[in-house]
Amino acid sequence: MGPPVQLPNHFPPAHSIPNLPGKSGWLRQPRPALLLALLTGALAILGATVMAQVPTHLTIPQPGGVPGLPVMTGIERTSNGVSLTWYGPAGYYQLYQKLGLGNAAWQTVGGLNFSNRATLTGLRSNAFFRVACASPKYTGSQTCTECHAPIHDPQVLTPHAAAFTGSRFISLGGQTNSSCLPCHTVGAGVPTGFVNLSKTPKLAGVQCENCHGPAAVHAANPEDPTMVPRVELAAALCGGCHNAAFVPSSVAAYHPPRYEEWNTSEHRAVDAVVAAKFATNSASIQTCGACHSGTVREALTEDQPLPGAAEAAAVGIACATCHDAHSLYTHTNVLAGVVTNVLANFTFTNSVLGRIYTNQIPSPFASFQPYHTTGAFATNYNPEINLCAQCHNDRGASPADTDFPPHPSGQYNLLLGAVGVIPPGEPTNQPATHAFLEKQCAACHMQTSAYVSPSQPAVSGHSFEMASFNVCATCHGSAVTAMNLASFLEFDINMQVQTVNASLNSWALTKAPVALRTKYGTRAWEYSTPGSLSPGGPGPTAAEQTAPAVPLAIKQARHNLYLVVNDGSHGVHNPLYCLDLLNYANALVQQELHK
Ligand code: HEC
Ligand code: HEC
Ligand code: HEC
Ligand code: HEC
Ligand code: HEC
Ligand code: HEC
Ligand code: HEC
Ligand code: HEC
Ligand code: HEC
Repeated sequence: MGPPVQLPNHFPPAHSIPNLPGKSGWLRQPRPALLLALLTGALAILGATVMAQVPTHLTIPQPGGVPGLPVMTGIERTSNGVSLTWYGPAGYYQLYQKLGLGNAAWQTVGGLNFSNRATLTGLRSNAFFRVACASPKYTGSQTCTECHAPIHDPQVLTPHAAAFTGSRFISLGGQTNSSCLPCHTVGAGVPTGFVNLSKTPKLAGVQCENCHGPAAVHAANPEDPTMVPRVELAAALCGGCHNAAFVPSSVAAYHPPRYEEWNTSEHRAVDAVVAAKFATNSASIQTCGACHSGTVREALTEDQPLPGAAEAAAVGIACATCHDAHSLYTHTNVLAGVVTNVLANFTFTNSVLGRIYTNQIPSPFASFQPYHTTGAFATNYNPEINLCAQCHNDRGASPADTDFPPHPSGQYNLLLGAVGVIPPGEPTNQPATHAFLEKQCAACHMQTSAYVSPSQPAVSGHSFEMASFNVCATCHGSAVTAMNLASFLEFDINMQVQTVNASLNSWALTKAPVALRTKYGTRAWEYSTPGSLSPGGPGPTAAEQTAPAVPLAIKQARHNLYLVVNDGSHGVHNPLYCLDLLNYANALVQQELHK
């Protein structure tokens, strides 16, 4: 939070604000009580001191990426005033307000402000705000080469750099159509931004300054700490362009709704339970944030200091968490034979492999190496593992665990049939045939379809849901057959889950040590924090699970049981293996019941 910007004393006291509408209505009402506006203009920076501020994130997508001029992103009523947030390029801001329409003059509010927010106390209902910053100065990515060559060189090989010169873009007349330029060039419509190919040839295509804001002043004065360009991880950055709603309907076919779909997925934000944990347990910022927070994961992969709790909770699994905007890494699929993982200056000569993925993804789609993230991130991180499995892995869940059932993230390990307790003599790796799909998780969870009509828009796969059975048809005959198979399997799995659960309950009531039985009833077999099968209260503590002992066989059975339940695919990830895990779990409990 920035320091509150104090209002000059001649401003009316807070109690004179009549009829402030509810917070949610403020931005959308046709005649809001507080209007938001913005203005540019050169501002002299008069010796203001730089305050160490974490800038707020871009929360509302802006066509073109980081806006060249500041935009108001939020206005919220506080107990005695109003809190404003804005977002824009690096530099100082000046906040203005005007009390009433008419001829009232714009008045500065506070001094030059380096932060992206202000809290004002004492306001009238008819106040208008605008925020200004120094006029933007764009320069083009060529200027950045000198100092950022390791980023510049591979970046120019991405489709971004060619966004203005694609043959389809040209044939659609995009180069001269002002409604196309904001997302296919740098700074179109903004001072010093793209005008046309002959006047501003260096600003064609998507470049550094789309994602980092105008940076000519920084390039000329790299030592100036106030002009260090934005590094934005929030999805709204990419969502400013990868957004079907911002595009003329005539070209909807080329613009799948990636941001919109992502925004419906669970990846869109940090889980509320996890966010609360960040605030109360700072160790969790690292341990849970590695998979749950975009900002934490970024800090870990780049070996930077970890963010604080608020910043850790601010960004979920965003575009830049999965995609490598600079394309420093390029991967071909391991299933095609080889994994290529090459640093800067790599040119795409790997076509001999038959398949090239240039989609700015730092890890392959598929891998077969067992992977569990436990302990220190640095020793565990392995970009050669399937992108999704970076997080969707079992975290080293073990039958010896006493506190929690396996985390609901074991999909990769189950797909490979490499987690859980199996009957002696069976192989320790039993990958599903489904693991051999060329794109593994993405094959089923990121199915796409092309644009047909406004009522049948493109599907980009970025909801990450198993939203269609079409992919199954190649092997199972038809989508409908596969869907039916999946529901038979779900029925089967549920039956088995109930059987194992009932056996465990029966063990708890008849065979568990008396102390546990009396204290916990059917929960005597459970973890200290029981899983979804045993609602209603805690289970035995770690000490109680050791003495009086819960037998190893019971611990193994509950481990298998919850691996399958918490995986969430009702067996589809590895049908035969999941059934095997449950059968063996039941056998283990039966053995204890008949002791
Ligand atoms: C003359 C050298 C130089 C040039 C040219 C230059 N930069 Fe930088 N850039 C730096 C230095 C040095 C830093 C580190 C500044 C700091 O952290 O205080 C930096 C930092 C950055 C950062 C922030 C990095 C972070 O971790 O916060 C971004 C983004 C960036 N530059 C983008 C650009 C872009 C875009 C251009 C071209 C328009 C550019 N730079 C041109 C030297 C340069
Ligand atoms: C200024 C607008 C803009 C921003 C901001 C932007 N993109 Fe793009 N992106 C484009 C355009 C335009 C293309 C299509 C280029 C082409 O194929 O001609 C594209 C293409 C891509 C592609 C390649 C698609 C392909 O077919 O291979 C990926 C991946 C991508 N963007 C990811 C991102 C991510 C991740 C971010 C945020 C970090 C982002 N983009 C931000 C405009 C943008
Ligand atoms: C809101 C930003 C935005 C606007 C406005 C926009 N585009 Fe795009 N365009 C993109 C992005 C982002 C992509 C990459 C699509 C993706 O996610 O795969 C793209 C991709 C394309 C592609 C596919 C690239 C290729 O080489 O096949 C074409 C063609 C295209 N745009 C044409 C246009 C035209 C013509 C207009 C204007 C009528 C336009 N776009 C307006 C953002 C935009
Ligand atoms: C499509 C959006 C996009 C484009 C284009 C882009 N960047 Fe970035 N940049 C990002 C994102 C997102 C991050 C933070 C995540 C990361 O480091 O990958 C970042 C991080 C950085 C950093 C911080 C340190 C680092 O190495 O990660 C620098 C410096 C930087 N970019 C410079 C540049 C330069 C120079 C260019 C142009 C040659 C450029 N970027 C093009 C999105 C972009
Ligand atoms: C190895 C990566 C990873 C780590 C580390 C991790 N999680 Fe998760 N977590 C996931 C994934 C992936 C999911 C989503 C699985 C699903 O919903 O099927 C998830 C789901 C959750 C959920 C939602 C469960 C639900 O039923 O919706 C909570 C709560 C959660 N994790 C808490 C935590 C806490 C607390 C920590 C730290 C102690 C943590 N996680 C550490 C990967 C991880
Ligand atoms: C959880 C990881 C993940 C997140 C988050 C994510 N993507 Fe993707 N994205 C992927 C994968 C994986 C693919 C490739 C899918 C395929 O080829 O089947 C992809 C494909 C794409 C492509 C097309 C690339 C190509 O070569 O055709 C674009 C463009 C893109 N994503 C943009 C975005 C944007 C914009 C966001 C944020 C709104 C985003 N992605 C969020 C994983 C992710
Ligand atoms: C950086 C870590 C990370 C990566 C990479 C990642 N996920 Fe996730 N995923 C999560 C977390 C954390 C959650 C749970 C979010 C929550 O509950 O708030 C989740 C949730 C999901 C869910 C929703 C689960 C539910 O219970 O509804 C699906 C489906 C999913 N991810 C699929 C994928 C796929 C497919 C990929 C690869 C393309 C992928 N994820 C990559 C961390 C990740
Ligand atoms: C053969 C297709 C297929 C493959 C491959 C696949 N999944 Fe799934 N997945 C499914 C199906 C079907 C479901 C059940 C979906 C449902 O019930 O909505 C599912 C469920 C999930 C869920 C739980 C979703 C929820 O709503 O609770 C997550 C998370 C998930 N998968 C992640 C992954 C990851 C990560 C991978 C790769 C390691 C993967 N899946 C591979 C088909 C697949
Ligand atoms: C690459 C071919 C292939 C694809 C694609 C595929 N499957 Fe399978 N599936 C198999 C094979 C082979 C088996 C037999 C079990 C095994 O080998 O793991 C199987 C088994 C199953 C089973 C267990 C029932 C049985 O007959 O044994 C279900 C349910 C299932 N698949 C559902 C799906 C669904 C749903 C999809 C799409 C999301 C899908 N499959 C995609 C090959 C495939």
